[in-house]
Amino acid sequence: MYTPKPLQWDDALSTGDETLDSQHKYLVETLNSLGDSINEGHGIEIIARILGRLRFYAGWHFGREEECFDTYHCPAAEKNKKAHAVFVEKFDRYYNRFRESGGSNELALKIHEEISDWIVNHIMIIDGELYPCIHLRPKPTAK
Ligand SMILES: [Fe+2]
Repeated sequence: MYTPKPLQWDDALSTGDETLDSQHKYLVETLNSLGDSINEGHGIEIIARILGRLRFYAGWHFGREEECFDTYHCPAAEKNKKAHAVFVEKFDRYYNRFRESGGSNELALKIHEEISDWIVNHIMIIDGELYPCIHLRPKPTAK
């Protein structure tokens, strides 16, 4: 059976933008809180609250990150937007199922497993494409 393990922040996850990195760190911390709450049996209401916070924060962060991709004319901008849209749809489906069914530890574990995998892979692979756009290109000029 799946057991949530704390995710560790690693500099390899850096996008090259401090603000985005701190938002990613907050996402990782929130996921870790979710994992702790499941492992420690904190109850469905607390888990639902963390899921709600994660959904709200992820949605807000995606908007900021997409602006940053556009600002630096990152070629991965469209791919990033599509990946975010897929995540939001998937998360909403899980979140609604969690709330409508009254929630369960089993479903919380499934959500944690999928979300953790998605976030780490996404930050490493797609968000990582921002790094060279920030550091290897001339700074964007004001229009
Ligand atoms: Fe992203």
